[in-house]
Amino acid sequence: MHSYPYTITISSEKGGVGKTTLATNLAIYLKAMREDMPVTILSFDNHFTIDKMFEIRKALDESADVHALLMGAPAREVVQVGQYGVGYIPSSTELADIHERFKGPMTLTRMLAESGLSGIVIIDTRPDLNILTQNALYAADRVLIPVKDMPSLENCKNIFALFDQRGIDKKSLALLPCLIDSRIKFEGIFKDQKTLLRAFAVNRGYRCLDSYISKSPKVESLNTNPDGKIYPILTHARGTEVHSQFLEITRDILRSVDTTEETRSCLYHKWLLEKESRKKESYLARLEGLAERCHICGSLLSEKPEGRSFYFETSDRAARGFLHGDCVSDMLCSTLYGLTSRSDAYTAARMAVANNAGRAVSLLAPRMEGSENRLDYRQFSMGGEQLLQKNIEMPGFDSGEFDGVHDKLYLLLNEALSGFEGKLRQGGWLSVYPVDPANPEAVLHEDYYKIIQKVQQSISRELEIT
Ligand SMILES: Nc1ncnc2c1ncn2[C@@H]1O[C@H](COP(=O)(O)OP(=O)(O)OP(=O)(O)O)[C@@H](O)[C@H]1O
Ligand SMILES: [Mg+2]
Ligand SMILES: [Zn+2]
Repeated sequence: MHSYPYTITISSEKGGVGKTTLATNLAIYLKAMREDMPVTILSFDNHFTIDKMFEIRKALDESADVHALLMGAPAREVVQVGQYGVGYIPSSTELADIHERFKGPMTLTRMLAESGLSGIVIIDTRPDLNILTQNALYAADRVLIPVKDMPSLENCKNIFALFDQRGIDKKSLALLPCLIDSRIKFEGIFKDQKTLLRAFAVNRGYRCLDSYISKSPKVESLNTNPDGKIYPILTHARGTEVHSQFLEITRDILRSVDTTEETRSCLYHKWLLEKESRKKESYLARLEGLAERCHICGSLLSEKPEGRSFYFETSDRAARGFLHGDCVSDMLCSTLYGLTSRSDAYTAARMAVANNAGRAVSLLAPRMEGSENRLDYRQFSMGGEQLLQKNIEMPGFDSGEFDGVHDKLYLLLNEALSGFEGKLRQGGWLSVYPVDPANPEAVLHEDYYKIIQKVQQSISRELEIT
């Protein structure tokens, strides 16, 4: 069974509100209260607090860090076994170049979904809303936003606005009053700092946890000591109010972990897989309707699969299939220049034609001009820009006379565009695309096929104008 982690992101644009203290200690409390549940922590900051707190010994592979993870390294290769049973991913100072890679908002969600990590992942972020923080916000089942004063509360609106912009449900977001100085008392209904913050939060439509974290000199001292270590609240500040506050927050989080059936990374992964399978289905459907024969030489493509260098499709999509490169070159050589394999200039001309056609989309649109059959031949770039146009006579086309010059063209048109009672389908045309002979079917894959559909559209528009 594939596992997906429950993800908690700690974020605030304001610095020094207690994010890292919350993230690291929360990891320890969670692990202490659920020994059998993996807890993994990582930070997008370069303060190395995580490392100082959890490192048992230097990792053997120095490049196994957050940077490697974000560059796509499998999570199992970068997670280190840390103190207190918490897994951690070493921090990195090199995250600046990652921003390029993380243009999309859901990249981290996908990585977490594919990471194979289970249990809980805690992400500590930098005090800004850069693309990495945004990714961490969208990946989270829970976002804890520490607020300590009015400015930090004001800043929250940017996080909420990000979710609004993308139309993402904000139910994962919750404020947590931190660094609350219980000695401060006010007159009136907002009797203290946390009541005041909570009232303002609710007033602005932000969810605020019932718990809060007090400011405690003991907690502050945990990262200021002669050994340069950072000690956890659980082991070194048990007697404090903050300890019971952490217990309460941890219980609250475990309740939501237990009641979450599908985490965000799981839901996103399922959605991705579904999208993939829809893509695959339409690809298979496109494969299904392909012509069995090359419509120019008539040979079965299953018997002569090599050299399938072109794909054609009619305007109504009723006929589609592959054509041999040689067949198309021969056809164009005679259609465009009246040359046949018996002509002197044939070899040189054919090379030029093959070269051109191998790069451009050819349009073949048969037309009646008065009582005469004509071919409107054009070339387009893959971007849909018209490069060339020729109006070509088609003598004897109606009566089915083959003259040794136009045979191949007539065969293709008849095979692909014939309709009721042997007449061509009214207004029909066909376009021919160069494909990679090593893997011609690739043209039917979603991404490539989209390009073809676009060119078809611009050809349609072009034909309507003229
Ligand atoms: N409950 C607390 N009581 C007293 N001091 C605290 C408490 N929580 C954190 N601190 C102290 O406040 C300072 C800032 O905390 P912390 O580093 O956790 O904030 P941060 O939001 O991660 O900061 P940054 O935005 O710079 O990453 C630290 O010196 C820390 O020791
Ligand atoms: Mg921090
Ligand atoms: Zn052929």
